[in-house]
Amino acid sequence: MCGIIGINSNKPVSGTIINSLKKLEYRGYDSAGIATLSSGQINEVKSEGRVDNLEKNSLVQNMNGTIGIGHVRWATHGLPNSINAHPHSSQNVSVVHNGIIENSTLLKKFLVGKGHKFKSQTDTEVIVHLITENLKTEDIVNSIKKTLKALHGSFALGIIFKDHPDLIIGARRGSPLAVGYGPNENYLGSDSYALKSMTNKITYLNDGEFCVIKKDHVEFFDEEGVKVNKKVLELSSEEKKYDKGDYKHFMAKEIEEQPTTLKNGIKEYLDNSNNDINIYNFPWKVNEISSITLIGCGTAYHSCLMAKYWFEELTSLDVNIDIASEFRYRKNRFKSDTLYVFVSQSGETADTYAALDLCNRNNMKTCSVVNVIESSIARDSKFVLPIHCGTEIGVASTKAFVGQMLILYILALKLGLMRKDIEKEIFLEKLKDLKKLPELVKETLLTDNKIQTISSTFNEAKGSMFLGRGFSYPIALEGALKLKELSYIHAEGYPAGEMKHGPLALIEEGMPVVVLAPRDNYYKKTISNMQEVIARGAKVLLITNKSKDEIVSENIWETIEVETANDDLLPFLLTIPLQKLAYYSALKKGYDIDKPRNLAKSVTVE
Ligand code: G6P
Repeated sequence: MCGIIGINSNKPVSGTIINSLKKLEYRGYDSAGIATLSSGQINEVKSEGRVDNLEKNSLVQNMNGTIGIGHVRWATHGLPNSINAHPHSSQNVSVVHNGIIENSTLLKKFLVGKGHKFKSQTDTEVIVHLITENLKTEDIVNSIKKTLKALHGSFALGIIFKDHPDLIIGARRGSPLAVGYGPNENYLGSDSYALKSMTNKITYLNDGEFCVIKKDHVEFFDEEGVKVNKKVLELSSEEKKYDKGDYKHFMAKEIEEQPTTLKNGIKEYLDNSNNDINIYNFPWKVNEISSITLIGCGTAYHSCLMAKYWFEELTSLDVNIDIASEFRYRKNRFKSDTLYVFVSQSGETADTYAALDLCNRNNMKTCSVVNVIESSIARDSKFVLPIHCGTEIGVASTKAFVGQMLILYILALKLGLMRKDIEKEIFLEKLKDLKKLPELVKETLLTDNKIQTISSTFNEAKGSMFLGRGFSYPIALEGALKLKELSYIHAEGYPAGEMKHGPLALIEEGMPVVVLAPRDNYYKKTISNMQEVIARGAKVLLITNKSKDEIVSENIWETIEVETANDDLLPFLLTIPLQKLAYYSALKKGYDIDKPRNLAKSVTVE
């Protein structure tokens, strides 16, 4: 995944391109580059590392041109250095690309045979030379059509041409791409977030389409080169500006925003006047659904796992969960009475999208739980449940995880009621408890100082473990993932009861182990598992909820008590100290918290 921007204007564009690239850094930040057309030629500047490095480059500061493209990269083919950074250019053509060209080796061989010289190790460079080659015999639209047909794999492209100084071409297959409209200028961007500071008028390209962007109008074509008419969408302006405020990092801000995230979600979905959950426009009858399959990647997969426990508790549906990258290539037995739920913050994750697409092509009931409502996953699923948690910038997801869990819990409750799997009184009781959740999360956020001190032990250790049972198990996985992502510390999440079947061998004197043992049905069992690791020398950080009952165990290194809630809601509260542990551990190490190494926020490649 990478970020693309293109601007065709009558004013110089390099400054605006750099600013837009900064907004796109969540998609990739190992290198960045820009190309503009001026004095009849393509000028290209590229830098390793962040957009800041590119901006400081004196060549960029002196860059002219009223038409240009820019890119932030997350390396797939070739090292993250300035040579492999995009744009890639020949004398005639310059290209920025998000995606992977699977037949690049074959195409390169063919192009080298024709005398083309390659400078980088990237798959993208074949596109540059292929267009250059096709332009020898074809007009611009046909050369693009012919080039795109020859490419296997996924791409979003932005292209400028020395001999066509009035236009930018955008093209999409698999990877998302949007066009934006401004006064006497038009834009190309990987997503609406990058374009929002310039316009709220957007058109999304569908798979296989390409477009010709001129200053005053844009034309769209299907893969056969036939013109298509597209709608212009007006985006809501509410999220035009999202900054760190007084926080050091977006992640810190996003952690603190979680009570508001929950409040907003609850406000959107709880119908107070009828004491009900408002999913009234759910398009299927309950007797049409007998099972549910939840699909996601990374943190979103953990919220699917969490939801499995809730759906099993609150409904009689068969519940399956799947990692999107596995689901999409397995021999799935599609069933028309299954509801397929796709969970994604960005709504652009390539594997999740491909899994959705597969279900749609098999005529399945598809529903998505997404944060970005203009995203591809939201647009292409038959029913959408927005998370309403606002923009999330930190690469490691926090408030979106909590937001996803909330919506999935609400869906489980509602389906449980609709199917008569839970009694109305129980449903009402749980709604009442749910309304208190934002306040409980707010209280739990106050356990700060202790976690800061505790995080040093994790930083000194070779590795760590996160254990939980039942409702706490998905949270243990998420806690371990957060620590890995941010602090680069080896951290494994395990079901506490599974330790004795192998992982216990890893425990050695002084190893930090987080044990999630709230006072729920699993409490006693988890405490026994905790004692097994303490007996082998582990330094246990016990995370439980406040209770008048004493904890009957010796030699616990540290204990953190979150607020108390009904068992269903404890996972939300247990999540908070784990997010903070990862945050403080990375802060002490001086790592880049909002942009951890090798990662990206939106993973639009397989
Ligand atoms: C990336 C992010 C993770 C996220 C995952 C799925 O790996 O770094 O934080 O959980 O993608 O993203 P999605 O947007 O589909 O939730």
